[in-house]
Formats: sequence, structure tokens, C-alpha cells
Amino acid sequence: MSVVENRADPSAEKNEFGYVLPHVKPLQIGNLTIDPPILQAPMAGFTNYAFRQIVREYGGAGLQATEMVNARGFVWMDENEAEHPDRLWGIKEEARPLAVQIWDNQPDIMAKVARRLVEEYEISVVDINFGCPVKQVTQRAHSGSYLLRDPDRMFQIISRVVAAAAPTPVTAKIRLGCTRDNANAIEVAQVVEEAGAAALTVHGRTAQDFFKGSADWDHISRIKPYLKKIPLIGNGDLSSPEQVLAAFQNYDVDGVMIARACLGRPWLFAQSVAILKGEPIPPDPTLAEQKECMLHHFDLVVKRFGVEKGTLLMRKYACCYAQGRPGARHFRTNVANVKSPEEFHCVVNEYFPKDA
Ligand SMILES: Cc1cc2nc3c(=O)[nH]c(=O)nc-3n(C[C@H](O)[C@H](O)[C@H](O)COP(=O)(O)O)c2cc1C
Repeated sequence: MSVVENRADPSAEKNEFGYVLPHVKPLQIGNLTIDPPILQAPMAGFTNYAFRQIVREYGGAGLQATEMVNARGFVWMDENEAEHPDRLWGIKEEARPLAVQIWDNQPDIMAKVARRLVEEYEISVVDINFGCPVKQVTQRAHSGSYLLRDPDRMFQIISRVVAAAAPTPVTAKIRLGCTRDNANAIEVAQVVEEAGAAALTVHGRTAQDFFKGSADWDHISRIKPYLKKIPLIGNGDLSSPEQVLAAFQNYDVDGVMIARACLGRPWLFAQSVAILKGEPIPPDPTLAEQKECMLHHFDLVVKRFGVEKGTLLMRKYACCYAQGRPGARHFRTNVANVKSPEEFHCVVNEYFPKDA
């Protein structure tokens, strides 16, 4: 069932905007209170320092996450006196709370990295990736969603990481299973809890699904009664404040996580907070404000990656901002070819006229 289908009690009293407010409480993740319980998902190649700053400036995300960091790579760098993973850039100075997501399949290595992240980087949450379906991570490294077929190994990884990171909470992010035929999320969820994790996030697809079809929120919801102590965070296909509201109204989740939809609309978190409070939803920023946001994002990306790499990277962010807007195709074609800040500004100025 799609998250938008509304199963709220039709007889319940509605607020002035015509809907029933769900009872949404702050999330308790170990010793950390996450308020509002709306999380920004980890996204490799996207949720870097620059993007996290943009999300933070609009507000509304209770917890933000980095891209996934490979634990073995981190340890290798350490032993070889190389720089720390690129993906950790900026996090020491960044506002908290902040979750860093790690992936691998060796409990010792994962524990070592978790300790390091807690001690040296003072992060708020160590999140472990058990959901990535890409071949490089699953078939080559037997990590990410590959581990869903091996709950014992998951137990070892989580319990070692929990012991190493204490008192910093450790969370796990999973999919429903490796395949639809073997969607073992309920079993896995119990293992995650027994191993000492402080929260569980579930993306309502299997690894085999990749991004096909709709996220199965009924299945996510069915996990909840099996978790005795830790909160359940639902994830998949939330792309509007109304859908965030519907997720809390219709499904047994303690929190929600948003990924793709926030890439072009980082203001979605603040809009979602408003609807959950029964307040008017703030309108999307004006075109002029969106242009300003995109140019500010460009500056942050350049600060993070330098002019050359930053300009190339900004192409994909700019495409996200334009998605679903009139003239987006033309804009995407042009922005996908920019090679300098001047060209970038020129394309943006053309798309967003001066009086926008
Ligand atoms: C480009 C991209 C990169 C992603 N990288 C990660 C990652 O590093 N770690 C992770 O746990 N999930 C990752 N995901 C999955 C998302 O966190 C999320 O679970 C998924 O996109 C479903 O949520 P959505 O429908 O809100 O996009 C990624 C997804 C996308 C689209």
C-alpha cells in the first residue's frame, strides 16, 4: 500500500485544515532526543557538507546523516597515515546532532572506526548501513543489504559497534530483506534490537527491488510490535508534507526519514514540521529565493570541493532543484554542460530571470 492512502479514523475530530493530527512525539535514540522525528537520509554522492548546510539552514530535520563511509578504507588510511575519508570533511565543526553512517562486514574494523568517530569526531550517532543494494557493496564487499541474509553476522557487527561507541547511540538502516520472497525484516529488526542498537530505520523495499515499485509501508508498520524498546523510523517515497502526515497517521512508526525528495526541496522538512503541528504549510520559496538557494549551494560546494570539482558536482544538484518545474528539461541540458562558475551563473540567470 502506498503511503498516501489514508486510513485515519474518519470519525475523528479534524483540525481547521481538515485533517486529524497524529500524536507525534520526539524520538528517543539512546541518550539523544530527536525533535522533530523527521530525519534527513544518508545519500552517497549527495549528503556532503554543502548539502547538509543547506538542509540545516531551512530547518526541520531532527537528525541529519552523512554519506556512507567505508570502515575498511578508514582504517587503511589511518594505518598508512593518509588523510581521513573525504566524506568526513567538515563534520568536526558542523552543528549537532549529526549521524555518520558506516558500512563494511568486519565487526572489529567497524568497532574501531566507530570508536574513532565518537572520540575524535564527537558525532552524535553511529549509523550502520545494512541496506545498500549496489553490487560494489553487496557482491564485491558482502556488505550493505547483503548482510540481511546473515542476521548472526549483523548481531556481531552491531553488538561490537555498540560496545565501542558507548555511550554514543548506534542505529541500523535496513531494507525489508534481500528479496520479496525472503523479506525477513521482522527477524532482522529483533536482532538489531537485541544487539543493542538504539533505533532502526527501514526502507520499505527489498534489495532486489532497488528503487522499483512503491515502498511497502504496511510491511514497515508490521515490524513495530516486535520492537520492545527502540523506535522505528519509516523510509520510502515521502515527497510532500501531506505524505509525511499520512505516514504518521496511517502507519505505526515513531519517525520518518526523507531521502530523494529533499535533494531539490530542502525546505520539505520545515513544511512537514508545520503540517504535523497543524499549522499552515509554509509555501515553497519564491523563484528568486530558490535561485538564491541554488547559488548559495554552489558557493558551499565550491568551498567544500574547490572550483573545478565543485562546478562539476553542482550540475547534479542543480538538476534536482529544477525537477518538475516548467522548462526543467532545457535547464538540465544546459546546466549539465557547465564547466565554470561563470557558465553556471549564466545558465541559472537564464532559467531564473532577474525579476523572478
Ligand atoms: C543517490 C542515492 C544515494 C543513497 N545513498 C545511501 C547511503 O549512502 N546510505 C543509505 O543507507 N542509503 C542510501 N540511499 C537510500 C536512501 O537513504 C533511502 O533509503 C532511499 O532513497 C528511499 O528513500 P526515499 O524514497 O525518500 O528516497 C541512497 C539513495 C539515493 C537515491
